Amino acid sequence: MTVDLRVDLGGIALRNPVLTASGTFGYGTEFAPFLDLRRLGGIVSKSLTLEPRTGNLPHRIAETHGGMLNAIGLENVGVDAFLREKLPALHPDVVVVASVFGTEIEQYAEACKRLTASPRVAGLEVNASCPHVKSGGIEFGQNPKLLAELVRVVRRATDRPVLVKLSPNVTSIAEMARVCEAEGADGLSLINTLQALDVDVETRRPKLRNVLGGLSGPAILPVALRMVFQAARAVKLPICGIGGIASAEDAVKFLICGATAVQVGTANYLNPAAAGEIADGLADWAEARGISRIADLVGSIEVPGA
Ligand SMILES: Cc1cc2nc3c(=O)[nH]c(=O)nc-3n(C[C@H](O)[C@H](O)[C@H](O)COP(=O)(O)O)c2cc1C
Repeated sequence: MTVDLRVDLGGIALRNPVLTASGTFGYGTEFAPFLDLRRLGGIVSKSLTLEPRTGNLPHRIAETHGGMLNAIGLENVGVDAFLREKLPALHPDVVVVASVFGTEIEQYAEACKRLTASPRVAGLEVNASCPHVKSGGIEFGQNPKLLAELVRVVRRATDRPVLVKLSPNVTSIAEMARVCEAEGADGLSLINTLQALDVDVETRRPKLRNVLGGLSGPAILPVALRMVFQAARAVKLPICGIGGIASAEDAVKFLICGATAVQVGTANYLNPAAAGEIADGLADWAEARGISRIADLVGSIEVPGA
């Protein structure tokens, strides 16, 4: 039996539901020696700004139990260099979602406009975990009004599918999901990293120069799964589930809880071929259980008494 792995993520046609997560897979080309990128549903670029950024000073990464902390500071080559150098270096059959961010709403909109000029950009992922300077540094994704304004403006700036990547550092993920749906987003990606801290007991210093960082990896999987489940119940938008996925079975959990597709992040650091293996493993998993269409798994969770 051949399993039909195709899914539609808010207008982005994917050959299978496994993508790589922003910031953990460079611009794709870095990983081409380890796996054929056409085996993946797609890749999400490092978050891009209008101008290049150098990011934070080291240490920017620290290992934790079951994951890692990072405070890279969103280093990236900028939208124009991405379009000029990074995108053309990828095989034309690789599905590319461009992640964007800015500290002002207008910057997001302009970045989306420029990226929309390239037919190679299959969709945009709006990273809402960025501090809004004018509001004193609160993340766009932490304030429903700011988030609504961001999605509204980005929606007007592009006709490409727009996925909004939500911050998990909120009280109600369902509320944020509803805001995005109301403003015309085509899909949601969740979750970004959880705000966290680790400290060296000898020096009594934070492990990261930035003090706070974002926690990712297997440690956050159950939190991410809970948020995908809650968002899927709150809105009709397709969801791309992210958080600690390291195996095909982890990916299946997200599909069952309501995700249409998934992204693999921290696992790429341990094994650069991880996402390809997870995509292949998903087909094997479904075939072994006589499931002919992977999309049939989406939202198939059985909640006792519901
Ligand atoms: C080193 C590193 C850099 C990241 N950079 C970005 C980024 O630029 N934009 C973004 O939206 N998310 C970024 N993320 C978050 C990931 O895309 C993902 O949402 C998160 O790590 C959870 O998935 P995981 O547990 O599979 O890593 C980054 C994560 C890591 C570990």
